[in-house]
Amino acid sequence: MAGKSMQSLVEELRAKKERLFEGGGPDRLAKQKEQGKLTARERVTALVDDESFEEFGLFAQHRQAGFGMAGKEVPADGVVTGAASIDGRLIHLASQDFTVLGGSAGEVHSLKVAEVMHRSLSTGSPFVFINDSGGARVQEGIDSLSGYGQVFYANVLLSGAVPQVSLICGPCAGGASYSPALTDFIIQTRKAQMFITGPQVIKQVTGEEITADALGGADAHMAHSGVIHFVAEDDEEAVHICRRLISFLPSNNLEEPPRLPTDGNVDPNPKLNDILPTDPKKGYDVRDLIAGIVDQGDLLEVQSGYAMNMVVGFARILGRSIGIIANQPLVLSGAIDINAANKAARFIRFCNAFNIPTITFVDVPGYLPGVEQEYGGIIRNGAKLLFAYSAASVPKIQVILRKSYGGAHVAMCSKDLGADCSFAWPTAEVAVMGAEGAVEIVFRKEMQEAENKAERRAELIAQYREAFASPYVAAGRRLVDDIIEPANTRRHLAQALEYLQNKRDQRPPKKHGLIPL
Ligand code: HXC
Repeated sequence: MAGKSMQSLVEELRAKKERLFEGGGPDRLAKQKEQGKLTARERVTALVDDESFEEFGLFAQHRQAGFGMAGKEVPADGVVTGAASIDGRLIHLASQDFTVLGGSAGEVHSLKVAEVMHRSLSTGSPFVFINDSGGARVQEGIDSLSGYGQVFYANVLLSGAVPQVSLICGPCAGGASYSPALTDFIIQTRKAQMFITGPQVIKQVTGEEITADALGGADAHMAHSGVIHFVAEDDEEAVHICRRLISFLPSNNLEEPPRLPTDGNVDPNPKLNDILPTDPKKGYDVRDLIAGIVDQGDLLEVQSGYAMNMVVGFARILGRSIGIIANQPLVLSGAIDINAANKAARFIRFCNAFNIPTITFVDVPGYLPGVEQEYGGIIRNGAKLLFAYSAASVPKIQVILRKSYGGAHVAMCSKDLGADCSFAWPTAEVAVMGAEGAVEIVFRKEMQEAENKAERRAELIAQYREAFASPYVAAGRRLVDDIIEPANTRRHLAQALEYLQNKRDQRPPKKHGLIPL
């Protein structure tokens, strides 16, 4: 360096940086754009606050010699990593650059990702991983596998300590899909595919023929596998969802979620008094009801296209983040099946890990009957819901809207599972089962012996309904704390959240409980 002026050194540095910023070069960047995708760096710019990105490891280089890699410059080793802010709050991120060796994960690539994840942990800030990669860098063999292993290990270390969000914006195949799978939320664009084994391997092994999109596209993962949490049309929408999601979350498990300014409005909403159909057998969209209660009617629904009989998502009441879990009477009458139990249990555990109170809206006829459900393990999977609620120590509030029957009544955050507060609408029916079913069991003999069977049956059903299908018996047993007017639900919830904000819940010390996986 001797003899070079600072100015020439700076110019040299700038030129080097310019070259590295170009990733795989103009042609490959142009190809990326032709596919309607942003580049790795554009995604970072779109995601974070203006001018907030501080990059680490731009000059990192691989150390492979074989397969033509010796002396080959691989800009940033195919992944942009660093710190930035979203709405002024620190995050750490990694963004794979498909223009550089197909975004493939070499050893140094993965070590960069793992390092920035450790920095997320040490600074208590969320980690966002933007995936766009052909998977393990084939030229680097087992070194690249080892790198993946370090990323997976870091994912687990961060789990429950800082929120982790994955964006899938391009290919994410093979073992590469397991880092996203270990994170809390996956946002996939309609231009991306994710699978363990692709269509060609599947055809060779099982003979099945399927396109990459039908196998691992965003819609497939939303509707069938339940692997992802949000579908985005494109990269711009994916980063928008990510920013919105993070706005509800604390930066780490030791913080409370950020509270937004509020006008304190808890005026009654008379529309809620008319939202339930008069016919108790008719469905309605529970999301309309939620919209009538939460701030600005704004619900960020999670997994909106999966197990639609259960609605989960984030919202706010008086600026406070809440996690909502609600039966959806429009789908399967709101019955709980395996997928719904898994979806809700996972969401509840996330809320609990990150100090987000849960509000559960109940309108459930029971667990879904059927051979498929029993063989699929509704016992084990349904138990996850019981486990997640019972283990959650955040404030837990229950609102019983209509049906709350049997095991499903207990499962939907009953007071017996530790709800701090249970409200019921006057339409609530808390019972061991529906009146029709109950009468068949209890009065079968009496009905058989009756002269007019149908008439007697109707009488008995009416009697049973009168006796049990209301919130008053449950309130009498203190299974419900108060019966409220629907229009005033927001005020009651706002107050309960206020009173419960300093809740502390003592649990016996142990390594961890054993959720029935
Ligand atoms: C090295 C790779 C690569 C990889 C792609 N490239 N994947 N280089 N290792 N894994 C390179 C290509 O050679 C090409 O370089 C450039 O990236 C762009 O790739 P294309 O194939 O031209 O792009 P496209 O047609 O869009 O196809 C994308 C793709 C395809 C579907 C991802 O590249 C592909 O199938 N790649 C291999 C996927 C794979 O089998 N990965 C290994 C999985 S094993 P040039 O210079 O020719 O343009 C794995 C194990 C992990 O991941 C286990 C962890 C526990």
